[in-house]
Amino acid sequence: MLQPDDKSGVSVSLSAVLAQLSEGSASEAVLAIGGEPASLIVTRVAGQVQAFRNICPHAGRRLDWAPGEFLIDQGQLVCAVHGASFDMASGLCVAGPCKGASLTPVALVPGIHPPDCES
Ligand code: FES
Repeated sequence: MLQPDDKSGVSVSLSAVLAQLSEGSASEAVLAIGGEPASLIVTRVAGQVQAFRNICPHAGRRLDWAPGEFLIDQGQLVCAVHGASFDMASGLCVAGPCKGASLTPVALVPGIHPPDCES
């Protein structure tokens, strides 16, 4: 699992995203990974927060239809490019051109989760 850089100037965006992330939704956070800004998809499902690189395993494109705007259909995250559907908790592609592949998970930095977040 990828790990964001600690104490990065861009990691501040994660706490703001988590504060407004409602159940069953997805939002974007930008964290530094390997010294470079990286777009992440942050989801909250059943109270659990997960983060994945915003890179579709099908064709390597971003999943959002506009920066930070994600399609969610029947509880699944849908890639705006070719319509692959992903389980929002695991990142597994459950339908579409990359079925069986997964988004790349990213470990969230400990200590900046909201109190109700156990991940
Ligand atoms: S790039 Fe996401 S489904 Fe093709």
